[in-house]
Amino acid sequence: MNDSSAAAERSYDDFYACFDSPLANAIRREVYGRDIGQHSCVLTEELEDDSQLLRLSHSSRLLDLGCGPGGPLCFVMGLTGCRAIGLDLSTEAIASATARARILGLQERITLRVADLDEALDIEARSFDSAISLDVVLHLRDRSQAFGEIARVLVPGGRFLFTDAGVITGAVSNEEIRLRSLHGHTQFVSPGLNERMLASAGLRLLDQVDRTGSLLEVSSRRQAVRLAHRAELESHEGVEGFDRQQLYLETVCALSRRKAVARVMYVAECESATL
Ligand SMILES: C[S@@+](CC[C@H](N)C(=O)[O-])C[C@H]1O[C@@H](n2cnc3c(N)ncnc32)[C@H](O)[C@@H]1O
Repeated sequence: MNDSSAAAERSYDDFYACFDSPLANAIRREVYGRDIGQHSCVLTEELEDDSQLLRLSHSSRLLDLGCGPGGPLCFVMGLTGCRAIGLDLSTEAIASATARARILGLQERITLRVADLDEALDIEARSFDSAISLDVVLHLRDRSQAFGEIARVLVPGGRFLFTDAGVITGAVSNEEIRLRSLHGHTQFVSPGLNERMLASAGLRLLDQVDRTGSLLEVSSRRQAVRLAHRAELESHEGVEGFDRQQLYLETVCALSRRKAVARVMYVAECESATL
């Protein structure tokens, strides 16, 4: 694991260590309305619609790259009946995802493993019908390598759906970049880069949708809900830690409102030429 990956793990592990506490559950319910155990800007209603793009059935195999505590993955499994593998760098995330899958009775159909997506995937070629990666790619050091790996493990015609919350669409200061990069290694990219890298990996872009609205909605609600729970959160995070998170959320909201950084959902299909 490289230094950047280690930094991302520490940062997310801090959240995941108490992800299933009564306070964290209450905050997520207030933020998302329908809390499915996501640690991202994924709105449950959006995921419900987007998962149809994956054309999953009971016999499909789904790969979640950067599954976190497994909420979105378990939700899609519940909707479609598919089998799945979830990978994440964080051991705390995988522990939480494993507990969630057990509670939901999905343990027979899911495998959850710690893995670094900056390295080659320990997965056989052409073994998945679809892949998702929700709000993860901005933490990777070499997304072209990751896209190549995804193309390798998907069957021809298999679909890959991901969100990138780091597409630069306006002027951003160095201070904003610093504040926005709180969760470890963070890469911001120009519009068109994901599209070009998907194409070079043999993943044909089918659609892309601006989802900055969800980012703004979730982040502004999270900021307000956290403020309402300030005293309890400060006792866990410390005064400085609490302020740092609030400033991070404030920066995300400001960048989204003035359309300086976009969150985009992409869906692509694996071309048979990659075989
Ligand atoms: C914003 S969270 C999203 C989690 C999940 N996809 C969800 O929607 O709830 C980003 C996740 O990416 C994971 N991550 C960051 N860098 C990674 C890497 N190099 N390899 C694997 N996972 C990574 C983090 O541990 C974290 O769980």
